[in-house]
Amino acid sequence: MKGIVLTKTGNLSYLQYTEEREIPQPGDHEIRVEVMAAGLNPVDYKLAEGWGGVQWKKPPVLGLDVAGIVDAVGSQVTDFSQGERVFYHGSLAECNGGFAQYACTTAHTVSRLPKEVDFVSAAALPCSGFTAYQAVVEKLKLDQSKTILIHGGAGGVGGYGIQLAKLLGARVFTTCSPQNDQYVRNLGADEIIHYRTEDIQKRIEELTDGRGVDYVVNTVDSQTATKDIDLLAFSGELVAVVEHPDFTRLRFYEKGLSIHEVALGGAHLNGDFRAQKKLAEIGDRYARLLQESKIKLPAIRTIQMQEVPDGLRKLKDRHVAGKIVAVMR
Ligand SMILES: NC(=O)c1ccc[n+]([C@@H]2O[C@H](COP(=O)([O-])OP(=O)(O)OC[C@H]3O[C@@H](n4cnc5c(N)ncnc54)[C@H](OP(=O)(O)O)[C@@H]3O)[C@@H](O)[C@H]2O)c1
Repeated sequence: MKGIVLTKTGNLSYLQYTEEREIPQPGDHEIRVEVMAAGLNPVDYKLAEGWGGVQWKKPPVLGLDVAGIVDAVGSQVTDFSQGERVFYHGSLAECNGGFAQYACTTAHTVSRLPKEVDFVSAAALPCSGFTAYQAVVEKLKLDQSKTILIHGGAGGVGGYGIQLAKLLGARVFTTCSPQNDQYVRNLGADEIIHYRTEDIQKRIEELTDGRGVDYVVNTVDSQTATKDIDLLAFSGELVAVVEHPDFTRLRFYEKGLSIHEVALGGAHLNGDFRAQKKLAEIGDRYARLLQESKIKLPAIRTIQMQEVPDGLRKLKDRHVAGKIVAVMR
């Protein structure tokens, strides 16, 4: 079959197009999917560069966000059958990812795709959408009385995060570059901070009458996560999506803060069946939100399979608004 194989880790030049990858066989508890679309994510370029020290059994096909049609099921799979439309977030330790014509994954982590939702839209969802869901819906307790700052509103995680926080009634602030103002406003952001030119702390003080925000979701890095500590109100909560803040900066009894971490792919890696099932449940929840038009898809740029390495290079610059999705058929 055709696919993009990572011949060795180190950098994106080791991602190579091939027409000779063998079609993967599903394990007993797995399904094989004919891939129709695969979403690109920062984790793909990070893995290609060696992040996490993941050891694969053979040169992997990356691509964690997959939408397609069930093509074969393992001997122990009873929940899915051939021909069903599905989408999922795969395991980063798995060798048979979505940047190929066929991919395999564990059946209990897969969601059905409603007929109203196309494959490209579904492939734009899992990694960033599920992460935003875990950060905003599961870690925090948002309601109309709460304020939240979601960094990087134009990115995948930030874009879904803004919408979920609005659905829960919160007042939402986000950071972005000026060219993405209208984009994040359309997603529902109430207040926009231009992180390149404005003093974020000063703006948060103005917007909250000096109190600080109840919650911050950090999608940027450790340095900004550390600065986020000063943006939080008393008893505030920070969700670290990329890196931890500098914990030495925290003073016990100063503000009663809580720090959360999201490790989406950790569900696959740590062997916790319940956490893995949760991935499918979040996918089901998004499918309903899309059916009910309660959530908008981010801006999506489509590319062809051979363009995946270039797409990942573009993502690595960290200024893609929305998502890039590879159309595989
Ligand atoms: N922990 C987990 O389980 C998990 C899961 C998923 C993703 N992640 C991580 O979360 C991060 C975000 O992922 P993503 O999919 O949203 O893609 P991304 O490529 O990191 O997001 C791109 C967006 O980031 C914005 N941005 C860049 N630098 C910024 C800064 N200093 N302040 C505010 N915004 C900034 C850009 O907005 P402008 O162009 O407007 O500047 C751009 O639209 C990635 O590092 C990813 O690896 C972690």
